[in-house]
Amino acid sequence: MAIPRLRSLPLPLLLVVLLRAFASLPIQAAARGGLDPSPGIAVEKHGAFSRGLLQDMPEITDEMVRGYMSNSELEGAVQDFGRRCANVSRIYSIGKSVNGSPLWAIEISDKPGLKEAEPAFKFIGNVHGDEPVGREVLMQLAYWLCDNYLKDPLATLIVENTHLHILPSMNPDGFALRRRGNANNVDLNRDFPDQFFPLNDDIKHRQPETRAIMNWIKQEHFTASASLHGGALVANYPWDGSRDTRKQYYGCPDDKTFRYMASVYSQSHYNMSLSKEFEGGITNGALWYPIYGGMQDWNYIHGGCFELTLEISDVKWPKASELLVIWKQNKLSMLNLVASLVKTGVHGRIFAADTGRPIPGSLMVKGIDSKINASGTFGNYHRMLAPGQSYEENLG
Ligand SMILES: *[C@@H]1O[C@H](CO)[C@@H](O)[C@H](O)[C@H]1NC(C)=O
Ligand SMILES: *[C@@H]1O[C@H](CO)[C@@H](O)[C@H](O)[C@H]1NC(C)=O
Ligand SMILES: *[C@@H]1O[C@H](CO)[C@@H](O)[C@H](O)[C@H]1NC(C)=O
Ligand SMILES: [Zn+2]
Repeated sequence: MAIPRLRSLPLPLLLVVLLRAFASLPIQAAARGGLDPSPGIAVEKHGAFSRGLLQDMPEITDEMVRGYMSNSELEGAVQDFGRRCANVSRIYSIGKSVNGSPLWAIEISDKPGLKEAEPAFKFIGNVHGDEPVGREVLMQLAYWLCDNYLKDPLATLIVENTHLHILPSMNPDGFALRRRGNANNVDLNRDFPDQFFPLNDDIKHRQPETRAIMNWIKQEHFTASASLHGGALVANYPWDGSRDTRKQYYGCPDDKTFRYMASVYSQSHYNMSLSKEFEGGITNGALWYPIYGGMQDWNYIHGGCFELTLEISDVKWPKASELLVIWKQNKLSMLNLVASLVKTGVHGRIFAADTGRPIPGSLMVKGIDSKINASGTFGNYHRMLAPGQSYEENLG
């Protein structure tokens, strides 16, 4: 279904868009993780950062693994989901891990696999092999959406007005090996090309998991996304690194938008916003601790995709009996974050006034130094913006 507010406007144009305020959210109430700076980059260590996040997990025992899905069980669950929810989902693989495991993704939409003039969101779990909560919670999210489509307004809104892509595990090899890195022991959240340092510019050394994600982003035109981690409880937003490598607040051009998105998550969460360590349960990445080669900043710069890095469990590998509670504590946050793509931001299409054909174009907002490209198929664009104020939109 098309978004009812979709505007179709001839070029050139300049207009003032007054955004609807986000419907008030029900308020209840490393991580990115781990300081492991890339070689050659001096990153100041900071004492305030006291959590176990920096250390490797103590050995992950069989006892700890009990109750979690193995990789083959996860694969089975994804395929089973595809059968059970056949009319609102599509199962596909975005590539393979070092050891040849397919990276299975689920697309949820009332028209899965079809291009529509709708925003797309992605969730990525298990970026770090020893942070398995995300892969479990994401399967819960998929089941919940399938079971509640046409019963729950939020589920229906998401299925009908977005294309939601879920990659439960980006790092199945690391999970099987019970460690942070992939099978080559590379930290995948340090393997993306960096805006400040040329550390990952050599394509030959790029990990297959990283390459798969980069291709996916170029293909799908995601409006926003989130990756799920464990080791803290906070919603982290760009930039993740600072140019001079110092730990400091280092905001991107869309700082306001990102603070808004992170707050949607933390305020809808059971208790993230009550954090004593992070005001409101959100943090700028570089202020927390700078990292380089992260996935989040690459999404924003090269994909026009507004990505958050979500730390959803203080304990990286909690007992499996706690997973259901963690899912419930994050459920509304996940739903509201995806729904914010529809409820706020600007949406439109760029096409030639005479032929009606989409033309390559992009959207700028006055005062914000970042561009969002329209997609080729329908010329549609979708851009996140903090609600409650007016913006001048500039199409080019
Ligand atoms: C999917 O199937 C359910 C149950 O059979 C049905 O109610 C629903 O309308 C279908 N949805 C779509 C988008 O076809
Ligand atoms: C949130 O609740 C969990 C228990 O579910 C608790 O372990 C944690 O300390 C709480 N965090 C905050 C910030 O209140
Ligand atoms: C937008 O398109 C231009 C031209 O094709 C490309 O160079 C740029 O990387 C794209 N930007 C984003 C954020 O996708
Ligand atoms: Zn992590």
